[in-house]
Amino acid sequence: MTQTHQIVVDKVRKSKVDSTDFENLTFGKTYTDHMLECTWRDGKWHDVNIKPYGPIQVEPSCKVFHYGQAIFEGMKAFKDENEDVFLFRPEDNWKRFNESAKRLAMPELPEDVFIAGLKKLVEIDKDWVRKGDGLSLYLRPFMIASENGVAAAPSTEYKFMVIMSPARAYYRGEVRVVIATSFSRAANGGVGYAKAAGNYAASFYPNNLAMEEGFQQIIWTDAATHEYLEEAGTMNIFVRIGDKLFTAPHNDRILNGVTRRSIIQIAKDLNIDVEEKRISIDEVNDAARKGTLKEIFGSGTAAVVVPIQGYKHLEFVHELPKIDDSYALRFKKELNDIQYNRVEDKHGWRVKI
Ligand code: COI
Repeated sequence: MTQTHQIVVDKVRKSKVDSTDFENLTFGKTYTDHMLECTWRDGKWHDVNIKPYGPIQVEPSCKVFHYGQAIFEGMKAFKDENEDVFLFRPEDNWKRFNESAKRLAMPELPEDVFIAGLKKLVEIDKDWVRKGDGLSLYLRPFMIASENGVAAAPSTEYKFMVIMSPARAYYRGEVRVVIATSFSRAANGGVGYAKAAGNYAASFYPNNLAMEEGFQQIIWTDAATHEYLEEAGTMNIFVRIGDKLFTAPHNDRILNGVTRRSIIQIAKDLNIDVEEKRISIDEVNDAARKGTLKEIFGSGTAAVVVPIQGYKHLEFVHELPKIDDSYALRFKKELNDIQYNRVEDKHGWRVKI
């Protein structure tokens, strides 16, 4: 029989929402009044609690600190003009979370904890979801190995938590990237497709080097040859050559992005020719030299759709042209219109709270 989990709620006495400056938000720095926490022990999820946001107590021997057994998701809630609040494709994040859990030898989350817990938490903190283009509530579900002990084996205890942060743009200003030619983000058979915390940690050092050179991000290439574009770590990548759009096919090295999938669908809806195929850097450089490379852009929950202004590949540095009919801006608008309930939701992506 499937167990149903009761969600126990303990609310704050006084909300921080009125003292929050929603005009000046730094991504991921401000948190709402409440968080969700529950524990996996003896083969089951226990104690689903919504309680005031605050520190948690763990011992220094807690496994997550030693072996990085940790996964997460990124999701958003949006408010429309009538003050209704919506999640965007939450089932997709739940499924991907469980795929990540499986790969990291962690327990999966049942729907009545992940989805129902998330909905309840957003409902309680719905004053933190503000109206306005670009404003959203960023939801961060995550799971950590919480058993004490440094034996290198999967934990016997886990914590699943959800914290929420009011958000504006993830990237500010222009974004230029370096195409990776020596470092790699993911390898065949590895954890690249999972939202494993360590994937992000491993990208920080190469990313710092790119930033020292004046770039904001790296576009990762396949680890074996460094000839094919894969993803940017915080975003999936699209390339427009002429009027055709390309994105790397999802595989075990590339995150199966919810925003990426949504853009592919929106492109089809708009009769834009879109193809999932391996994109070689030679092809991109050739198009750049010929003037047919029109756009490169990234997509992700936090980032939404981010046009890339320029890139560097070995000694070749290229600035993307300024164009009037940008696909990136069109996709961003279409996506936002669906998320903020401004247009019909043909594909059933919005979930009302
Ligand atoms: C997201 O887009 O939600 C991500 O997970 C990227 C994150 C590193 C901000």
